[in-house]
Amino acid sequence: MVTTWWKHGIIYQVYPRSFLDTNGDGIGDLQGIVRSLDYLTWLGVDALWVSPIFPSPMADFGYDISDYCSISATFGQLADFDRLVTEAHRRHVKVILDLVPNHTSDRHPWFVDSRSSRASSKRDWYIWRDGQPDGPPNNWMSNFGGPAWEWDETTHQFYYHAFLKEQPDLNWRNPEVRMAMQAVMRFWLDHGVDGFRIDGLWHLIKDASFRDNPVNAGYGPGQPDINRFLQVHSADQPEIADLVAELRAVVDAYADRVLIGEIYLPLQRLVAYYGKDLEGVHLPFNFQLLFTAWNAPALASLIEEYERALPVGAWPNWVLGNHDQKRVATRVGDAQARIAAMLLLTLRGTPTLYYGDELGMTNVPIPPDAVQDSWEKNEPGLGLGRDPQRTPMQWSKSVHAGFTDQTPWLPVGANYRQCNVDEEKGDPGSMLILYRSLIALRRRMPALAGGAYRAVPLGENILAYERVEGDQRLLIALNLDSDAKPVRLPSWAGTDVLLSTRTVKPASVSMPFVLHADEGVVIGSETDVEQAIEGAS
Ligand code: NOJ
Ligand code: CA
Repeated sequence: MVTTWWKHGIIYQVYPRSFLDTNGDGIGDLQGIVRSLDYLTWLGVDALWVSPIFPSPMADFGYDISDYCSISATFGQLADFDRLVTEAHRRHVKVILDLVPNHTSDRHPWFVDSRSSRASSKRDWYIWRDGQPDGPPNNWMSNFGGPAWEWDETTHQFYYHAFLKEQPDLNWRNPEVRMAMQAVMRFWLDHGVDGFRIDGLWHLIKDASFRDNPVNAGYGPGQPDINRFLQVHSADQPEIADLVAELRAVVDAYADRVLIGEIYLPLQRLVAYYGKDLEGVHLPFNFQLLFTAWNAPALASLIEEYERALPVGAWPNWVLGNHDQKRVATRVGDAQARIAAMLLLTLRGTPTLYYGDELGMTNVPIPPDAVQDSWEKNEPGLGLGRDPQRTPMQWSKSVHAGFTDQTPWLPVGANYRQCNVDEEKGDPGSMLILYRSLIALRRRMPALAGGAYRAVPLGENILAYERVEGDQRLLIALNLDSDAKPVRLPSWAGTDVLLSTRTVKPASVSMPFVLHADEGVVIGSETDVEQAIEGAS
C-alpha cells in the first residue's frame, strides 16, 4: 500500500485568474481560493497546484514573472498566500506552486539590468548573441510564433526567448542563475509549500554552440511556426539531467515535498526526467492522454507503452487537461468525458485534474475583440489560443456563474446555468457527482492508486483492465462506443458493480452483462465500499 501523499493523492490545478473573484475586479484571487477550500475538500482532492501568482506584467498571464518572491497585487498579498497554505493544511490539502525557471519577464530587474549594457553584471544571466550577417543568430523559433530572437537596439545584440519576446530565457549555464532560482525555491518552501510544478523544464538548457535546428519535413500550412523545425538543439539537451538533480536536491532538504516537471516530449525522452537513480523530478507530467486518439486500442497501447517505459521504481502519473490544452469534454464529447474521468481515476499513478473539468466545462468560444492570449494574437486563426479553456469557474446559476459580480476577464460559458457546482451537487447524474464518487472510491480502494495493471480483452472498442493489490481485485470496463455491448465476465459473476458512469446501475454482475452506450463500470469484490461512499456523501 502506497503512503506517500503525492503517490496516493489527487492533484487539482487551479488557474487563479479564473477561479473565484472576491474583490469585484473580474479576476480570481487568493482569497477566492481560500473560500473554495471547503468545496475542494468536499470533492476529495489532496493537493492544489496553483498557476503563477507572482508579480507579472501578465503578457503571458503570470508565466512572465517580474518578482519571484512576492505576490501579484492582482491576486492579493503574501499574507493571503500564507493564509491559503495554513487553511489548506488545516484541511490536509497540500499546496504546489508553479516555478517558472526558464524565463523571466522582460521587466524583471535582472533583465532590465542585463539589457542595460554589455558590461552589466547580469549580462550573462540571459542569452545574448551576435546576429549573422543576414539576420538572427540561428533558425530557432518561438513557441508563440516568429523567430525566437529579439534585436536589442541599445546593446546591438539579440536575446533569446523560447516563448514571448516579453519572456527572455535565463542562461542556466551560469551558476549564479542556478543559485538565484534555488533561493527562490527555498523562499517558498520556507513559506510551507509542498512542492513545485516546474514550467517548461525541458527548455532550460540549449545547445552550447547554438546550432540550427533541422527542418521538419512534416511541417505544412495551418501549423504553428514552432513546427517549422525539429527542436533538436533548442531543448532537451543531455546536460539537463544534472540541473534537474540539483533542483531535486533543494526540495529533498525539506520533508515530504514533490517536484513535478512540465515536459512535452515523446515517452522515451519523458521518462528520462525521472533521472538516474530516480534523482530527477518525482513526476514528469504524462500528457499522453491529451494527444492519443480516443479509442480503446489506442488507449490500451498507450497505457502498456507507458507502463513499459517507466524506470524501475518510478511512479506513474496521468493528466487529462490543463490551461494550455483544449478541455477534455470538448476533445471527446460530453458522454465520453465521463469515461475519461473514470479512466483517469482508475489508472495506476497520480492523477491531475484541471479546474472545471469535474463539472464537464467545455471550451468557450471567445469573440475576436475579447481575445486575451498573446499566442492567439501572434498566430491568429489557427485555433492555438488558450482563452477558451481558461474561462471562469462555474459556481452557480447566478450572474457570471457566481465567479464575480463584475465583468469577468473572460466570458463565462453559455452552459453555466446547468453546468455549475450548485446545480451539479444536487444531481446524482451530474459529472460532479461522478468525479466525487470516483475520488471516494479511489480513496477507499488503494488498489486503484497503486495496484498492478493488467489489460483484459473484453471486446471491440472496450478498454478493460484489472487493478490488483493484495486482496483487492477490481475490473474496470470502459465502452468507448456509443452503442451498447454485451460482454462476457464469467469470473466476475455476482460481484458488485461499485460504480457506473450512468446514474442507474445493477447492484452486481449478472449474465449476460451489458455495457450501455458510453458506459464505464468499476466492478469489485469488497462489499462495504458502497456503504462507505454513501456514508461520505
Ligand atoms: C507552459 C505554461 O503552462 C504556459 O501557459 C506558458 O505559456 C509557457 N509554459 C511559458 O511559460
Ligand atoms: Ca479579484
